[in-house]
Amino acid sequence: MKPPTRVNHPPAVSMPPDNRPLVAPIYSSVKFTFDSVAESERESRGQREGFQYSRVANPTLRQLELTLAELQGRDGCLLTASGVAAANLAMLSLCKQGDHVLMFAEMYQPTRYMIRRVLSRYGIAHTMLSIEDVDGIERTLAERPTRMIVFESPTNPVLKVASLERMTAAARAHGALTLLDNTFAGFHNHGQFDIDIFAHSLTKYASGHGDVMGGAVIARSELIGAMRTDSVILGATLDPHAAFMIQRGLKTYPLRYERQCANALRIATVLEAQPQVARVSYPGLASHPQHALAVRQMHEFGAMVTVELHEDAARFSEALKLFAISASLGSTESLVWPGRLINPRDFSAQERQWAGISERTARLSIGIEDVDDLLADLHQALTSGTASK
Ligand SMILES: Cc1ncc(COP(=O)(O)O)c(C=O)c1O
Repeated sequence: MKPPTRVNHPPAVSMPPDNRPLVAPIYSSVKFTFDSVAESERESRGQREGFQYSRVANPTLRQLELTLAELQGRDGCLLTASGVAAANLAMLSLCKQGDHVLMFAEMYQPTRYMIRRVLSRYGIAHTMLSIEDVDGIERTLAERPTRMIVFESPTNPVLKVASLERMTAAARAHGALTLLDNTFAGFHNHGQFDIDIFAHSLTKYASGHGDVMGGAVIARSELIGAMRTDSVILGATLDPHAAFMIQRGLKTYPLRYERQCANALRIATVLEAQPQVARVSYPGLASHPQHALAVRQMHEFGAMVTVELHEDAARFSEALKLFAISASLGSTESLVWPGRLINPRDFSAQERQWAGISERTARLSIGIEDVDDLLADLHQALTSGTASK
């Protein structure tokens, strides 16, 4: 072969079947080939295993899909380019014009935006309640045919806990699908409940290092099958390099999450006793309104701690030295996000009260650092009068 031909047809290197890489390679290839048209055709018809085009399926993504489905206790998974793309895919794919969706004031702002501003343009109606209003949820489902309930537990950012048993029983009784954004609780939580669809941001605890974005929809294979073609056509596919990073991050997910939760419980307990702190919201504290529910539903209580201070949380956030002021959560280093940056502008007075966010709110994402160092930093920030970052 002449050079221009050779560089486009490099020598193939095949691995002997008894000589495998310990870590699966990144299948960066967008295209996969077959030796014959007939085999390519059989693959397209689902008559044989294989891959054709990475937006449709890719071996690196497949390994991550299988891992995540198993962790969450379901048999199907679709990967997306971000966490919001995962929840959006489930909503867009499973809802149609004329449907009604039940949503909550206590949830991630972009999910609210998607339902209120985007789905509404396509004729999908919604009702917004407080996640604490379990009677209201049951009443709404009884009164109005509902296609989907979209919710979080614990909620972002004030960490309210949804009653999963009552929610799923009511949904089942009235033929509604449940879509739980399970990012805060993690893959090892909530699988035992009758939840139809889990959405996760893999940008957070799954990858764990704040250096890659991704999302996953996890459900029984029949529901995943119903979303698969839409997913391929909508095109928010995860890149194989990102999938590799997330698969690598997952190796330490149980260790990181356990350590982060232990740190969070200790920090929540100490903060609750501080005079500068008006309230600590952490499901692991006996003072949390849904503590008993959290004990029944979760293995541990998560790595987010939200505090209500007696002062504007901006000064406190700026005074912290180990907690970076940053959006997002779930990485190894601790972060703080003050209420002024969270405070949603799309709320009515009632919704604002349900959401429970003010300028005195600070959301802490607890990392894996030494907890005594974190406590010392929190103490100095609470007691220092002026910003010192
Ligand atoms: C609960 C929750 N769901 C989804 C997302 C969105 O994730 P991503 O940024 O990967 O789209 C976030 C991001 O903060 C989140 O907190």
